[in-house]
Amino acid sequence: MVPEIFNQAVSRDLKEDIITIDGPSGAGKSTIARQVAEKLNFRFLNTGSMYRSMTWLALQRNISFDDEARIIDMARNIHFAISIRGYGEEDFRIEVDGHDVTHHIRSLEVERHVSQVARISGVRRILVQKQREIIQEGGWVVEGRDIGSVVCPQAILKIFLTASSEERVKRRREQFHRGPTSLTGVELEDVEKEMNQRDWLDSTRDDSPLIEPPDSLRIDTTGKSAEEVVEEIMAAYGRSRHAGRHN
Ligand code: DC
Repeated sequence: MVPEIFNQAVSRDLKEDIITIDGPSGAGKSTIARQVAEKLNFRFLNTGSMYRSMTWLALQRNISFDDEARIIDMARNIHFAISIRGYGEEDFRIEVDGHDVTHHIRSLEVERHVSQVARISGVRRILVQKQREIIQEGGWVVEGRDIGSVVCPQAILKIFLTASSEERVKRRREQFHRGPTSLTGVELEDVEKEMNQRDWLDSTRDDSPLIEPPDSLRIDTTGKSAEEVVEEIMAAYGRSRHAGRHN
């Protein structure tokens, strides 16, 4: 099923461009993607939210994560509706099969299982197809793990964001503090362990693991403000457009 998208128009002259942002969890992808999109009046797509939504639905339906056939079947029939009303954290909303899961997908339970869904090739094939349908017109900043390498290798600019492990854990904890689930002290301790485990699974899976595309620009965000990183990306985007890589 083609995902539904509700959002604002994109300025015409830049319309066809796509910027990809890949990297491990906690590197700052979502914040940066939103801010770059805002500067360019583009839309932004958080592809992790699609893998997370599937994970939420599998948990709701009590489907075992080992039951690949059922999970693939679920992916085939799932209906996504994504709405982007602005550039704040709350402005990207996602519904699956009529449920608004924007907050549910940030739970620790979803976080714990999402890599088990994301490693299934049949699921990836379906979600990659949906993501390509969503962004086909251009005018998007898309973030995830395989966007520059698989979903959109033709992007005018590919960014690979990293940060030190300490910084990523710190950001992840802050995200949980802001989110709907308040964690206990023990769970907060677990954030580091779980994040490392998830990154390891995402980087070592057979199908489209997290890799740094050779033609991407690596930016280490450790100790940098979001504004600084956004400026770096905007400058790189200007150079890419000037070089006319995208015709
Ligand atoms: O970016 P995130 O933490 O919301 O992503 C959640 C999970 O989804 C992550 O552990 C890996 C998976 N993912 C993926 O495999 N490919 C993507 N393009 C985006 C996310």
